[in-house]
Amino acid sequence: MSDTSVLPLQLTAWIDHQFSQSLIAGEWEVRRLFHGRSGVIDELRAVVIDWLAPVAVIRLYADVEAALLADLVAFLAAKEAVQGVLVQERGRKRETKFNIPYGQVSEVMQVLESGLVYQIEPLQFQNFGLFLDMRNGRNWLRAHAQGAKVLNLFSYTCAFSVAAIAGGAESVVNVDVSKRALTIGRKNHQLNNQDKAASQFMPYDMLKSWSRIKKPGPYDIVVIDPPSFQPGSFIAERDYCKVLRRLSQLTTADAKVMLCHNDPEQSSQFIRTLMATQCREFVFEQHLPVPEDFAEQDVEKSVKVLIYKRTAA
Ligand SMILES: C[S@@+](CC[C@H](N)C(=O)[O-])C[C@H]1O[C@@H](n2cnc3c(N)ncnc32)[C@H](O)[C@@H]1O
Repeated sequence: MSDTSVLPLQLTAWIDHQFSQSLIAGEWEVRRLFHGRSGVIDELRAVVIDWLAPVAVIRLYADVEAALLADLVAFLAAKEAVQGVLVQERGRKRETKFNIPYGQVSEVMQVLESGLVYQIEPLQFQNFGLFLDMRNGRNWLRAHAQGAKVLNLFSYTCAFSVAAIAGGAESVVNVDVSKRALTIGRKNHQLNNQDKAASQFMPYDMLKSWSRIKKPGPYDIVVIDPPSFQPGSFIAERDYCKVLRRLSQLTTADAKVMLCHNDPEQSSQFIRTLMATQCREFVFEQHLPVPEDFAEQDVEKSVKVLIYKRTAA
């Protein structure tokens, strides 16, 4: 880095730390290199940097000084492992724009997380195919899936299911209204050499498809990871309770349920209250910590991942 760099030392030290954490058993794993929203550096709240090896992605939710952006690109580009830097401007009321100021970025890539392979598309406008903040959820599922029948609701690209099968799950059922996401999900299972017969794909609006979803059950583990606000498909405030009301029909007597909620404006109390009113036979077991690279001063602003267990009562 040049002597005249405008980058805060705290930022470069943090990025270097995350790079070192990403190199596991000699292989680069996906990692959030900088989570500006945590407020750790106040003036960089609108900056997010992800490491999708070999590409570093800088996401800007508001304008930053040109000198700072140029130094950040140069800092990342100077790393031997970085073969491309992608800058994406996005955020409410801003036109999404991409720019590749260094190297090359493929439209379709394969990345590693916890030793598993996932297909991603870094140039996609919205989500590139893998929610990095859910790593601890996937690792939890992998550790608890041995022999289980798993239902993955709102499965998107089936990352939870890939982790479940890697953990020895007997079978997984993926439900998502997006056929395109499920096609990538199929690919993700294949990339990890997982038995085709172990996974089913249901491209349905789940709120209208309960009998089809119920059929392969009952399930030992159910994952529920909906969007918080997707008008026309799912609005958590209105629809989360509709999913929870089905849980007792879908699960075995000692099933576990992973409930996720990604609205930073709502605390985990949202889920706890719903469970206390809609699903009394389930008891709270655990609130999973967020991965270290997503740590926030207020944990309730992060994605919430709660584990419940069905009891005999
Ligand atoms: C937050 S993403 C899920 C992320 C996913 N669990 C993962 O681990 O990557 C939400 C997903 O819900 C799907 N979705 C939204 N409303 C739905 C509905 N009513 N029925 C089925 N899928 C729905 C969307 O297509 C999207 O893929």
